[in-house]
Formats: sequence, C-alpha cells, structure tokens
Amino acid sequence: TKGNHRHFMLKEIYEQPIVVAQTLRAYLRRLEGTLALPTEDFDLASVKRVTIVACGTSFYAGLVAKYWFEQFARVPVDIDVASEFRYRAPVLEEGGLALFISQSGETADTLAALRHARAEGQKIAVVVNVPTSTMAREADLLLSTHAGPEIGVASTKAFTCQLAVLAALAANLARAKGRLSPDEERAIVRHLSEAPAALNGALAYDEAIQEMAPIIAAARDVLYLGRGPDYPLAMEGALKLKEISYIHAEGYAAGEMKHGPIALIDENVPIIVIAPSGPLFDKTVSNMQEVQARGGKVVLISDYDGIQAAGDGCVATITMPKVHPLIAPLVYAVPIQLLAYHVAVAKGTDVDQPRNLAKSVTVE
Ligand code: M6R
Repeated sequence: TKGNHRHFMLKEIYEQPIVVAQTLRAYLRRLEGTLALPTEDFDLASVKRVTIVACGTSFYAGLVAKYWFEQFARVPVDIDVASEFRYRAPVLEEGGLALFISQSGETADTLAALRHARAEGQKIAVVVNVPTSTMAREADLLLSTHAGPEIGVASTKAFTCQLAVLAALAANLARAKGRLSPDEERAIVRHLSEAPAALNGALAYDEAIQEMAPIIAAARDVLYLGRGPDYPLAMEGALKLKEISYIHAEGYAAGEMKHGPIALIDENVPIIVIAPSGPLFDKTVSNMQEVQARGGKVVLISDYDGIQAAGDGCVATITMPKVHPLIAPLVYAVPIQLLAYHVAVAKGTDVDQPRNLAKSVTVE
C-alpha cells in the first residue's frame, strides 16, 4: 500500500535510506571494514573487460558505474542500451564480463542481449531487483538489489540500490585486481555506509523542492547539466521529468553546451545544474555562468559550500548534505526524483501510471 503517501512514487522515494542500507548489507561487512559479494565463487580477478547493457534508468545507473569501474579497477568498460547492443556486432572477447542491469529482470531487449552475450562466450553478471526473474535465473553472478517491489512506473529506489550494488561491485573488482589497499577498502566501505544517512538528509529538502516546482511546471523545455558521474544523473533527471510530467527535457554534459544546445537558451528554458562541490565543480559552474549570461534561469543543486560559492544569480538552489564524491550520485538522485514528482503533481498527471508507459517492457 501507499501508506501515508499520496503516490507509490513518493513512498518509494522515501524508502531509499532503508532499502539502500538493506542492499549494502549484502555487499559490505561494515564492522570489519571489508567488501563482500553474495557469492565467493566467481572469479573477478580474471575479468579483462566489462560490457554493460541496460535500458532506461537502469542504463543511466550503468553509465555512472562506468566511471567507478575505470577509476577503481582500471578495467575497460563498454556500455550500450540493449536495443542497440543486440543489433550491432559488438566485439566480445575472452575474459569479458557482460553486466546487465534491470529492475524487473524481464526487459525484453536486455534479456535478448544477455543471451547474445552468453552465446558469444561472455560471463554473465546481472543486477536485478526481482530475484525470481528470468535474468536472475540465467546469470553466472547474481547481484540483487534489495529495494523491495517497485510499483511506480518511474524507477526511483531501484536506481539508488543499483548504484549501491555497482559501487560495491567496482570496488570488489578493484580488490580482486590487487588495486585496493586494505586502507582504501576500509575507506570505501565507510563512504558507502554513510549513504543511508545522507539520503535522509537529502529527503529533508522535499518541501523546498515542492515550493520551487511551479517554476519548472510552467516550462515547455528543461535542460539538466552535469559533469562526470553527474552527467548520467542529468540524463536520469531529464528522463524522470519527461516520463511523469510530459515536459520535454534533455540531460547534457555541461561541457557540451557550447557545442550546440546553448542556442536554445533564453529566459523560458530552466536549467537544472547538478554540481556537488569537488574537483569538477568550477568547470561546471563556468558552464552554468555561460547559460546565465544568456538569460537562462538556473536551479543549482549543490552542497552548502557550492551554493555559497555559486548560488547568487540562480532562480532557486537546492542544498544537499556534503558527501564523499563516491556516494554523491545516490544522494543527488533524490532531489531530481522529488523535483520530477512535484512538477508532475503540479501538472496533475497520473504520476504512478504515466500515459503510454508500462512498468516492465517485455516486448521489443
Ligand atoms: O526493469 P528494467 O530496469 O529493465 O527497466 C528498464 C526501463 O524500462 C526503466 O528503467 C524505465 O526507463 C523507467 N520507466 C524509468 O523510470
């Protein structure tokens, strides 16, 4: 049931601190400060390349994970949406791990891609939320998210749980490759363990986000900008807004603005900038100032330091708790989900059952 919440989507957004903690429990030994996988007998050390395949929100979780696999494990990563992957001629060499991400474990294109990868001799890992699903049954390495049933068509808690599993997997792979000292491992475990409390901190801005929703609800087009792991998050924010509020939205790499999309900017196009303070902050802020100089109305999502440094001149700001960069994508997912939710409610759309969409896409 929806409990006290008006929609399943809102209930599921609010469940995130608990279900992410639940999920992480299967992948971390918090007290020992060590990483763990649900199974011991999968040979991660021999993985030479990772090929990630998924659709929709699960694909964006995979895009974030690419940064982690490269950064921690130094393993090359290919990634594609399932509907493209299965109709190209992907080069899948020996020693490859094909990783499929799916809430339902039943998405037709992702499943077909899994079978194709298996036929090409890849080891198969899946991150799924339904442990009895077809993908779960067909995997060599089953990595469950413990988000519980997700009813809202817009994926929310499954996404943050996928990110939690993928961060832990990337760190496990790094360890298997001898690229993680015990101290580094302990630090990663500590950062990941801080995610549930940080998600709670992010939820505290629900009301502030609700108050600014009318700015977005009045727009015809909205742009989302981010860099690094916040770039896939920008695309996820745009997808969330499109699917439930029916407002046209695009997510862009902040640095790509001046290669075309900046031509769209005028006072009618709100721009949501996702920029936690950190190594990429100044770069993103300079792209933000370029759009402000063209009259663009910016909503800046950052932490206290970031808002202090760059919040002037924004039409609204959303302050997130200050978190380690590793968990920032999980934490910053919350305001973009809440924003899409409140805009959809303001527009009066059917939030849990948006038009033309199905929860599980089991046809091609
Ligand atoms: O069950 P899956 O994770 O395989 O589903 C993939 C997409 O259909 C799904 O994420 C879709 O994009 C959501 N409606 C996004 O909110």
